[in-house]
Amino acid sequence: MGIFTNAYMPKTITFPRRIVDYSKCKSCRRCFDACPSYGYVWGDDNYPHPHGYGGYPDACISCWNCVAVCPHGAIRVEGAYYVDRGRHKTYLRKNISLPHPFGEKDRRPYESYAKQLTEVERVVYTRRSNRLFNQKKAVPEETVNRVLEAGRFAPSAGNNQPYRFIVISDKKIIQELEHGAMRSLRLLKNLYFDKSGKGKRPLWKRIFFTVYSWFDPQSMDPRPFTAVEKADRIDEKIYWDAPVVIMVLKNTLGISNPDLDVGICCQNMVLAAHSFGLGTCYISLAIKSMNLPLMKGFRKKLSIARPWKAVTCIALGYPVGKIDGVIARDTPQVDWFRG
Ligand SMILES: Cc1cc2nc3c(=O)[nH]c(=O)nc-3n(C[C@H](O)[C@H](O)[C@H](O)COP(=O)(O)O)c2cc1C
Repeated sequence: MGIFTNAYMPKTITFPRRIVDYSKCKSCRRCFDACPSYGYVWGDDNYPHPHGYGGYPDACISCWNCVAVCPHGAIRVEGAYYVDRGRHKTYLRKNISLPHPFGEKDRRPYESYAKQLTEVERVVYTRRSNRLFNQKKAVPEETVNRVLEAGRFAPSAGNNQPYRFIVISDKKIIQELEHGAMRSLRLLKNLYFDKSGKGKRPLWKRIFFTVYSWFDPQSMDPRPFTAVEKADRIDEKIYWDAPVVIMVLKNTLGISNPDLDVGICCQNMVLAAHSFGLGTCYISLAIKSMNLPLMKGFRKKLSIARPWKAVTCIALGYPVGKIDGVIARDTPQVDWFRG
């Protein structure tokens, strides 16, 4: 892959097909609300319809959240998000499967072997990102403390614990962050998506985004843009109306790789939260914008200064209805060198 590879709207992108069985759908809107990437439009017929925008035929990142949250089993997904060539190539095996802890050939349904699993395994397989938060049920501070405590006991390089937490339940502060972040995110998204909606790839955009992606390759992946589109259409609710947001900061001077330590710490908190019946969603969409000079005032308000830098946030709250569930996903490459 050369450095001049076009990093703007990859041509070899393929999306999964989402199939709604309208004979089972009860128009509850859960798929529509939970989709992180505006992958459904709500039709005049009062049903969800998979759709595309900005030149992409179908804005789906293949997270299967719509399948997990549907109480009626009305949605099925075929295929997944892949890019075959270029900077945003997905490098996946195109081998999508449900969990098979007892071997790849074991194709029994999850329910038939769930009892053989440990409690930790069950949470690992059924935890889904939650974007439907119960607005009437607050999270007690004792429970938030138990979640944070699970983070404190995570392993870290040299036991250096290079993290700090900011717990926000003040809606105004969350909105201020969303609004501040959306200003730069919206600007970039409008530049990225072609206004005609046909996905034209003008030369100047191909050059601009390719050069931009040398400095910030992850942000130029099409998937975050689909998330910004969704946030833009739901009143900037990047945090999905979560009652609590835990912002996790790294000590940039921490040993080795503080981002990795933060990730491990976060996952301890996420698993603990699910064991309390809470729903969680990692939210990184606002982080890059938050670290820009234009949000200096906001960072000051939250006492974020060197050596601290926000890495991600965990949205926390009680879910509305069933969120968790088993889904299929691709299988990464595994190489064994047996002795
Ligand atoms: C580091 C990280 C950042 C994420 N950022 C966001 C985000 O900004 N917004 C969002 O809705 N989901 C976000 N997610 C959730 C992912 O979309 C989700 O984990 C993925 O689609 C797999 O779905 P699952 O968590 O239900 O298994 C993030 C996840 C991770 C691990």
